[in-house]
Amino acid sequence: MTDLRQAAIAVRENAHAPYSGFKVGAALRGASGTIYRGCNVENVAYPEGTCAEAGAIAAMVAAGETVFTEAYVVAGSPLPVTPCGGCRQKLAEFGAGDVRVTMATVEGSEQVLSIADLLPGAFDPSFLGG
Ligand code: THU
Repeated sequence: MTDLRQAAIAVRENAHAPYSGFKVGAALRGASGTIYRGCNVENVAYPEGTCAEAGAIAAMVAAGETVFTEAYVVAGSPLPVTPCGGCRQKLAEFGAGDVRVTMATVEGSEQVLSIADLLPGAFDPSFLGG
């Protein structure tokens, strides 16, 4: 098992998902090599819940890093879990287009896509120029 999968599998155990029952774990490899972890944290006020990817990104930024080079997301789904639209935008903020995102099941099936493939035509800082 890779270190990134191991980290995502382990942090998934801490997911707070009493409403969906769907636990997700995410791990990012920062440019420094440090691994950051996140799990989904649901809330009784449903829209206030946060995704695993968002948690991992928050952990990375809080630690002082703003670039990651690899991502891994795992859930107990029948097919490899795919990041929601909002998380695709969040991933694109801190990862280059060619960064690999591995989506996986707990059982071990994996699918790999780049950030650019996950979010074609992304809104990026170049649009802010006016
Ligand atoms: N979820 C994630 O954390 N990441 C994903 O990539 C897909 C969905 C969470 C949000 C919610 O807590 C639960 O999974 C069900 O949608």
